[in-house]
Amino acid sequence: MPEKPQPLKHRLKQRIEAGGPITVEAFMEAALTDPDDGYYTQRLPIGAAGDFITAPEICQIFGELIGLWIAEVWQTMGAPDKFRLIELGPGRGTLMNDALRALAVAPDALKAAELHLVELSAPLRAVQRATLAKAPIAPIWQNRFEDVPTGPAIIIANEFVDALPIRQFVRLESGWHERCVGLAKEDALIFTHCETPLDDPEKLIPTKLRSAAIGSIIELRPAARHLIAEIAARARMAATAVLIIDYGHVRSAPGDTLQGVRKHRYADPLEHPGETDLTAHVDFAALSDRASTEGLAVYGPLPQGQFLLSLGLAERAERLAAGATPQQAALLSSSARRLVDPAQMGELFKVLAIATGNNPPPPFT
Ligand SMILES: C[S@@+](CC[C@H](N)C(=O)[O-])C[C@H]1O[C@@H](n2cnc3c(N)ncnc32)[C@H](O)[C@@H]1O
Repeated sequence: MPEKPQPLKHRLKQRIEAGGPITVEAFMEAALTDPDDGYYTQRLPIGAAGDFITAPEICQIFGELIGLWIAEVWQTMGAPDKFRLIELGPGRGTLMNDALRALAVAPDALKAAELHLVELSAPLRAVQRATLAKAPIAPIWQNRFEDVPTGPAIIIANEFVDALPIRQFVRLESGWHERCVGLAKEDALIFTHCETPLDDPEKLIPTKLRSAAIGSIIELRPAARHLIAEIAARARMAATAVLIIDYGHVRSAPGDTLQGVRKHRYADPLEHPGETDLTAHVDFAALSDRASTEGLAVYGPLPQGQFLLSLGLAERAERLAAGATPQQAALLSSSARRLVDPAQMGELFKVLAIATGNNPPPPFT
Protein backbone atom coordinates (compact mmCIF):
# COMPACT_ATOMS: atom_id res chain seq x y z
CA MET A 1 0.00 0.00 0.00
CA PRO A 2 1.46 3.44 -0.87
CA GLU A 3 2.42 5.50 2.16
CA LYS A 4 0.01 8.25 3.23
CA PRO A 5 1.42 11.67 2.27
CA GLN A 6 3.00 13.56 5.15
CA PRO A 7 2.96 17.24 4.13
CA LEU A 8 4.71 18.48 7.28
CA LYS A 9 7.47 15.86 7.06
CA HIS A 10 7.92 16.75 3.39
CA ARG A 11 8.26 20.47 4.21
CA LEU A 12 10.65 19.77 7.10
CA LYS A 13 12.86 17.71 4.80
CA GLN A 14 12.86 20.52 2.22
CA ARG A 15 13.79 22.98 4.95
CA ILE A 16 16.68 20.78 6.11
CA GLU A 17 17.89 20.21 2.53
CA ALA A 18 17.94 23.95 1.93
CA GLY A 19 19.35 25.18 5.24
CA GLY A 20 20.92 22.19 7.03
CA PRO A 21 19.80 20.46 10.23
CA ILE A 22 17.24 22.25 12.41
CA THR A 23 17.34 22.30 16.21
CA VAL A 24 15.27 19.82 18.21
CA GLU A 25 13.40 22.88 19.51
CA ALA A 26 12.50 24.03 15.98
CA PHE A 27 11.47 20.49 15.03
CA MET A 28 9.27 20.09 18.11
CA GLU A 29 7.69 23.49 17.60
CA ALA A 30 6.81 22.72 13.98
CA ALA A 31 5.60 19.19 14.76
CA LEU A 32 3.26 20.42 17.50
CA THR A 33 2.13 23.85 16.40
CA ASP A 34 2.69 24.34 12.65
CA PRO A 35 -0.37 26.40 11.63
CA ASP A 36 -1.31 24.03 8.77
CA ASP A 37 -0.13 20.59 9.80
CA GLY A 38 0.95 20.75 13.47
CA TYR A 39 -0.22 18.09 15.89
CA TYR A 40 -2.21 20.45 18.11
CA THR A 41 -3.53 22.57 15.28
CA GLN A 42 -5.06 19.63 13.43
CA ARG A 43 -6.03 16.85 15.80
CA LEU A 44 -8.17 15.81 18.72
CA PRO A 45 -5.41 14.05 20.63
CA ILE A 46 -6.99 13.24 24.00
CA GLY A 47 -9.16 10.19 24.75
CA ALA A 48 -9.66 6.61 23.60
CA ALA A 49 -9.93 7.64 19.93
CA GLY A 50 -6.89 9.91 20.20
CA ASP A 51 -3.32 9.29 21.29
CA PHE A 52 -3.23 9.71 25.07
CA ILE A 53 -5.36 10.26 28.16
CA THR A 54 -4.94 12.86 30.91
CA ALA A 55 -5.91 12.93 34.61
CA PRO A 56 -9.14 14.98 34.26
CA GLU A 57 -10.33 12.57 31.56
CA ILE A 58 -9.63 9.61 33.83
CA CYS A 59 -11.56 10.78 36.88
CA GLN A 60 -13.86 13.75 37.61
CA ILE A 61 -12.44 14.10 41.13
CA PHE A 62 -9.22 15.55 39.68
CA GLY A 63 -10.96 18.68 38.37
CA GLU A 64 -13.32 18.88 41.35
CA LEU A 65 -10.43 19.02 43.83
CA ILE A 66 -8.79 21.73 41.74
CA GLY A 67 -12.09 23.66 41.93
CA LEU A 68 -11.95 23.46 45.74
CA TRP A 69 -8.28 24.50 45.61
CA ILE A 70 -9.27 27.56 43.57
CA ALA A 71 -11.95 28.48 46.17
CA GLU A 72 -9.43 28.31 49.04
CA VAL A 73 -6.72 30.20 47.19
CA TRP A 74 -9.19 32.93 46.27
CA GLN A 75 -10.05 33.30 50.00
CA THR A 76 -6.34 33.43 50.89
CA MET A 77 -5.87 36.18 48.30
CA GLY A 78 -8.34 38.30 50.26
CA ALA A 79 -11.40 37.32 48.18
CA PRO A 80 -10.87 39.87 45.37
CA ASP A 81 -14.18 40.88 43.78
CA LYS A 82 -12.71 40.19 40.35
CA PHE A 83 -9.96 37.78 39.33
CA ARG A 84 -8.85 36.00 36.17
CA LEU A 85 -9.22 32.25 36.31
CA ILE A 86 -6.76 31.14 33.65
CA GLU A 87 -6.22 27.64 32.29
CA LEU A 88 -3.20 27.02 30.07
CA GLY A 89 -3.81 24.24 27.54
CA PRO A 90 -7.33 23.20 28.65
CA GLY A 91 -7.53 20.11 26.40
CA ARG A 92 -11.17 18.99 26.17
CA GLY A 93 -12.30 21.48 28.86
CA THR A 94 -13.06 18.65 31.28
CA LEU A 95 -10.82 19.83 34.12
CA MET A 96 -12.39 23.31 34.05
CA ASN A 97 -15.92 21.95 33.79
CA ASP A 98 -15.41 19.75 36.86
CA ALA A 99 -13.62 22.57 38.70
CA LEU A 100 -16.43 25.06 38.06
CA ARG A 101 -19.02 22.55 39.28
CA ALA A 102 -17.08 22.17 42.54
CA LEU A 103 -16.54 25.93 42.77
CA ALA A 104 -20.29 26.28 43.27
CA VAL A 105 -19.53 25.74 47.00
CA ALA A 106 -18.03 29.25 46.91
CA PRO A 107 -20.60 31.29 44.94
CA ASP A 108 -18.77 34.57 45.61
CA ALA A 109 -15.56 33.15 44.10
CA LEU A 110 -17.53 31.95 41.10
CA LYS A 111 -19.09 35.40 40.72
CA ALA A 112 -15.67 37.05 40.89
CA ALA A 113 -14.08 34.76 38.28
CA GLU A 114 -13.45 35.78 34.68
CA LEU A 115 -12.50 32.62 32.80
CA HIS A 116 -9.65 32.70 30.26
CA LEU A 117 -8.65 29.61 28.30
CA VAL A 118 -5.25 29.82 26.63
CA GLU A 119 -5.50 27.44 23.70
CA LEU A 120 -3.94 27.47 20.26
CA SER A 121 -5.78 24.45 18.87
CA ALA A 122 -8.95 25.26 16.91
CA PRO A 123 -10.31 21.68 17.09
CA LEU A 124 -9.78 21.62 20.87
CA ARG A 125 -11.36 25.06 21.29
CA ALA A 126 -14.50 23.68 19.64
CA VAL A 127 -14.54 20.75 22.09
CA GLN A 128 -13.99 23.12 25.02
CA ARG A 129 -16.91 25.28 23.83
CA ALA A 130 -19.19 22.22 23.82
CA THR A 131 -17.94 20.89 27.18
CA LEU A 132 -18.39 24.26 28.87
CA ALA A 133 -21.67 25.16 27.12
CA LYS A 134 -23.60 24.95 30.39
CA ALA A 135 -20.83 26.20 32.67
CA PRO A 136 -21.76 29.00 35.09
CA ILE A 137 -19.24 31.38 33.48
CA ALA A 138 -18.53 31.85 29.79
CA PRO A 139 -14.91 31.35 28.71
CA ILE A 140 -12.84 33.88 26.81
CA TRP A 141 -10.26 32.22 24.55
CA GLN A 142 -6.73 33.54 24.16
CA ASN A 143 -3.94 32.43 21.84
CA ARG A 144 -1.20 33.32 24.28
CA PHE A 145 -0.90 33.71 28.04
CA GLU A 146 0.46 37.23 27.46
CA ASP A 147 -2.90 38.18 25.93
CA VAL A 148 -4.82 37.66 29.20
CA PRO A 149 -5.33 41.07 30.87
CA THR A 150 -3.38 41.56 34.09
CA GLY A 151 -4.97 41.64 37.56
CA PRO A 152 -5.41 39.08 40.35
CA ALA A 153 -5.12 35.64 38.79
CA ILE A 154 -5.34 31.94 39.56
CA ILE A 155 -3.60 29.93 36.86
CA ILE A 156 -3.94 26.20 36.24
CA ALA A 157 -1.66 24.24 33.90
CA ASN A 158 -2.14 20.46 33.72
CA GLU A 159 0.12 18.70 31.21
CA PHE A 160 0.83 22.00 29.47
CA VAL A 161 4.53 22.50 30.20
CA ASP A 162 5.51 19.04 28.90
CA ALA A 163 4.24 20.09 25.46
CA LEU A 164 6.46 23.19 25.30
CA PRO A 165 9.45 22.66 23.00
CA ILE A 166 12.84 21.75 24.45
CA ARG A 167 16.40 22.39 23.31
CA GLN A 168 18.83 19.50 23.64
CA PHE A 169 22.62 19.64 23.94
CA VAL A 170 25.05 16.75 23.72
CA ARG A 171 28.50 16.74 25.31
CA LEU A 172 31.21 15.52 22.95
CA GLU A 173 35.04 15.57 23.24
CA SER A 174 34.92 18.86 21.33
CA GLY A 175 32.48 20.52 23.77
CA TRP A 176 28.72 21.01 24.06
CA HIS A 177 26.83 20.81 20.75
CA GLU A 178 23.16 21.63 20.13
CA ARG A 179 21.20 18.53 19.14
CA CYS A 180 19.43 18.82 15.79
CA VAL A 181 17.27 16.94 13.33
CA GLY A 182 18.89 16.25 9.97
CA LEU A 183 18.47 14.02 6.93
CA ALA A 184 20.07 10.58 6.52
CA LYS A 185 21.39 9.46 3.11
CA GLU A 186 18.29 7.31 2.63
CA ASP A 187 16.11 10.41 3.16
CA ALA A 188 14.91 9.64 6.71
CA LEU A 189 14.85 12.25 9.48
CA ILE A 190 17.55 11.51 12.06
CA PHE A 191 18.96 13.06 15.21
CA THR A 192 22.32 14.73 14.73
CA HIS A 193 24.14 17.70 16.24
CA CYS A 194 25.45 21.07 15.12
CA GLU A 195 29.04 20.76 13.92
CA THR A 196 30.33 23.72 15.86
CA PRO A 197 30.32 23.45 19.65
CA LEU A 198 28.79 26.22 21.77
CA ASP A 199 31.38 28.94 22.22
CA ASP A 200 29.81 30.05 25.51
CA PRO A 201 28.58 26.87 27.29
CA GLU A 202 28.88 28.75 30.62
CA LYS A 203 25.99 30.94 29.58
CA LEU A 204 23.66 28.15 28.51
CA ILE A 205 24.50 24.87 30.22
CA PRO A 206 23.57 24.89 33.95
CA THR A 207 26.66 24.69 36.19
CA LYS A 208 25.59 21.44 37.86
CA LEU A 209 25.26 19.69 34.47
CA ARG A 210 28.29 21.15 32.71
CA SER A 211 30.67 18.36 33.75
CA ALA A 212 28.31 15.55 32.70
CA ALA A 213 30.01 12.54 31.06
CA ILE A 214 30.90 12.60 27.36
CA GLY A 215 27.86 11.49 25.38
CA SER A 216 25.39 13.00 27.91
CA ILE A 217 22.37 14.89 26.64
CA ILE A 218 20.83 17.73 28.61
CA GLU A 219 17.57 19.58 28.01
CA LEU A 220 16.50 23.19 28.43
CA ARG A 221 13.03 24.61 27.91
CA PRO A 222 13.16 28.31 26.93
CA ALA A 223 9.35 28.53 26.63
CA ALA A 224 8.94 27.44 30.28
CA ARG A 225 11.46 30.08 31.32
CA HIS A 226 9.43 32.62 29.39
CA LEU A 227 6.23 31.40 31.09
CA ILE A 228 7.77 31.88 34.54
CA ALA A 229 8.97 35.37 33.58
CA GLU A 230 5.44 36.22 32.46
CA ILE A 231 3.97 34.87 35.73
CA ALA A 232 6.53 36.90 37.69
CA ALA A 233 5.67 40.09 35.78
CA ARG A 234 1.97 39.57 36.58
CA ALA A 235 2.70 38.68 40.21
CA ARG A 236 4.60 41.95 40.68
CA MET A 237 1.36 43.78 39.81
CA ALA A 238 -1.37 41.70 41.47
CA ALA A 239 -2.06 38.67 43.66
CA THR A 240 -1.27 35.55 41.65
CA ALA A 241 -1.38 31.82 42.35
CA VAL A 242 -0.31 29.09 39.97
CA LEU A 243 -0.72 25.32 39.95
CA ILE A 244 1.54 23.41 37.57
CA ILE A 245 0.87 19.67 37.28
CA ASP A 246 2.94 17.55 34.98
CA TYR A 247 5.14 14.51 34.63
CA GLY A 248 8.81 15.01 35.24
CA HIS A 249 11.73 14.93 37.64
CA VAL A 250 12.53 16.87 40.81
CA ARG A 251 16.28 17.10 40.19
CA SER A 252 17.92 18.36 37.01
CA ALA A 253 19.90 15.52 35.46
CA PRO A 254 21.29 14.57 32.06
CA GLY A 255 19.05 12.40 29.88
CA ASP A 256 17.12 12.36 26.61
CA THR A 257 13.43 12.48 27.62
CA LEU A 258 11.89 13.53 24.29
CA GLN A 259 9.12 11.04 23.57
CA GLY A 260 6.52 10.42 20.91
CA VAL A 261 3.12 8.88 21.62
CA ARG A 262 0.69 7.78 18.94
CA LYS A 263 -2.52 5.84 19.47
CA HIS A 264 -1.62 5.18 23.11
CA ARG A 265 1.80 3.67 22.27
CA TYR A 266 5.32 5.05 22.29
CA ALA A 267 6.33 6.09 18.79
CA ASP A 268 9.47 7.36 17.05
CA PRO A 269 9.38 11.17 17.54
CA LEU A 270 10.72 11.72 13.98
CA GLU A 271 8.62 9.24 12.02
CA HIS A 272 5.28 11.07 11.73
CA PRO A 273 5.73 14.75 12.66
CA GLY A 274 2.33 16.39 13.13
CA GLU A 275 0.67 13.02 13.74
CA THR A 276 2.53 12.09 16.94
CA ASP A 277 2.28 13.73 20.33
CA LEU A 278 5.71 14.98 21.37
CA THR A 279 6.54 15.77 24.99
CA ALA A 280 9.55 15.81 27.29
CA HIS A 281 9.84 15.49 31.06
CA VAL A 282 9.35 18.70 33.00
CA ASP A 283 12.46 19.65 34.95
CA PHE A 284 10.76 20.83 38.17
CA ALA A 285 14.09 21.89 39.69
CA ALA A 286 14.73 24.24 36.76
CA LEU A 287 11.18 25.64 37.02
CA SER A 288 11.51 26.21 40.79
CA ASP A 289 14.97 27.78 40.47
CA ARG A 290 13.73 30.11 37.76
CA ALA A 291 10.67 31.12 39.78
CA SER A 292 12.78 31.73 42.90
CA THR A 293 15.24 33.81 40.90
CA GLU A 294 12.29 35.88 39.70
CA GLY A 295 11.41 36.49 43.38
CA LEU A 296 8.38 34.18 43.46
CA ALA A 297 7.47 31.94 46.41
CA VAL A 298 7.49 28.33 45.23
CA TYR A 299 5.85 25.36 46.97
CA GLY A 300 6.57 21.72 46.20
CA PRO A 301 6.79 19.86 43.97
CA LEU A 302 4.65 17.25 45.69
CA PRO A 303 3.88 13.90 44.10
CA GLN A 304 0.43 14.09 42.48
CA GLY A 305 -0.83 11.24 44.70
CA GLN A 306 0.09 13.06 47.90
CA PHE A 307 -1.39 16.32 46.58
CA LEU A 308 -4.76 14.78 45.67
CA LEU A 309 -5.03 12.65 48.81
CA SER A 310 -4.26 15.70 50.98
CA LEU A 311 -7.02 17.62 49.22
CA GLY A 312 -9.53 14.84 50.04
CA LEU A 313 -9.58 12.47 47.05
CA ALA A 314 -10.42 9.39 49.15
CA GLU A 315 -13.31 11.11 50.96
CA ARG A 316 -14.74 12.49 47.72
CA ALA A 317 -14.50 9.05 46.05
CA GLU A 318 -16.32 7.49 48.98
CA ARG A 319 -19.09 10.09 48.86
CA LEU A 320 -19.58 9.63 45.09
CA ALA A 321 -19.54 5.84 45.42
CA ALA A 322 -22.32 5.95 48.02
CA GLY A 323 -24.77 7.20 45.38
CA ALA A 324 -23.48 5.05 42.51
CA THR A 325 -24.32 1.63 41.06
CA PRO A 326 -21.80 -1.16 41.90
CA GLN A 327 -20.31 -0.90 38.38
CA GLN A 328 -19.99 2.88 38.61
CA ALA A 329 -18.46 2.57 42.09
CA ALA A 330 -15.88 0.03 40.83
CA LEU A 331 -14.95 2.26 37.88
CA LEU A 332 -14.68 5.30 40.13
CA SER A 333 -12.48 3.45 42.58
CA SER A 334 -10.07 2.18 39.89
CA SER A 335 -9.86 5.55 38.12
CA ALA A 336 -9.26 7.46 41.38
CA ARG A 337 -6.58 4.91 42.28
CA ARG A 338 -4.89 5.43 38.91
CA LEU A 339 -4.37 9.11 39.75
CA VAL A 340 -2.71 8.47 43.13
CA ASP A 341 -1.11 5.03 42.90
CA PRO A 342 2.70 5.49 42.96
CA ALA A 343 3.02 2.77 40.31
CA GLN A 344 0.64 4.65 37.99
CA MET A 345 0.34 8.48 37.97
CA GLY A 346 0.83 9.15 41.68
CA GLU A 347 4.63 9.57 41.70
CA LEU A 348 5.66 10.39 38.15
CA PHE A 349 3.27 13.35 38.05
CA LYS A 350 4.16 16.24 40.32
CA VAL A 351 2.48 19.41 41.50
CA LEU A 352 4.24 22.73 41.90
CA ALA A 353 2.54 25.84 43.25
CA ILE A 354 3.61 29.46 43.03
CA ALA A 355 1.84 32.11 45.07
CA THR A 356 2.20 35.74 46.07
CA GLY A 357 1.55 36.74 49.70
CA ASN A 358 2.73 34.95 52.80
CA ASN A 359 0.28 32.07 52.92
CA PRO A 360 1.21 28.81 51.25
CA PRO A 361 -1.66 27.41 49.18
CA PRO A 362 -3.23 24.12 50.30
CA PRO A 363 -1.97 21.49 50.86
CA PHE A 364 1.54 22.98 51.02
CA THR A 365 0.94 24.44 54.47
C1 LIG B 1 -1.48 17.41 26.80
S1 LIG B 1 -2.76 18.49 26.46
C2 LIG B 1 -3.37 18.75 28.12
C3 LIG B 1 -4.81 19.08 28.13
C4 LIG B 1 -5.51 19.30 29.46
N1 LIG B 1 -4.82 20.22 30.31
C5 LIG B 1 -5.79 18.02 30.17
O1 LIG B 1 -5.29 17.84 31.27
O2 LIG B 1 -6.54 17.19 29.63
C6 LIG B 1 -1.94 20.02 26.10
C7 LIG B 1 -2.86 21.19 25.87
O3 LIG B 1 -2.09 22.36 25.68
C8 LIG B 1 -2.43 22.98 24.45
N2 LIG B 1 -1.21 23.61 23.96
C9 LIG B 1 -0.05 23.00 23.63
N3 LIG B 1 0.90 23.92 23.33
C10 LIG B 1 0.31 25.13 23.48
C11 LIG B 1 0.76 26.46 23.33
N4 LIG B 1 2.00 26.71 22.95
N5 LIG B 1 -0.11 27.46 23.56
C12 LIG B 1 -1.39 27.20 23.95
N6 LIG B 1 -1.87 25.94 24.12
C13 LIG B 1 -1.03 24.92 23.88
C14 LIG B 1 -2.96 21.86 23.60
O4 LIG B 1 -3.71 22.26 22.52
C15 LIG B 1 -3.77 21.09 24.66
O5 LIG B 1 -4.98 21.73 24.94
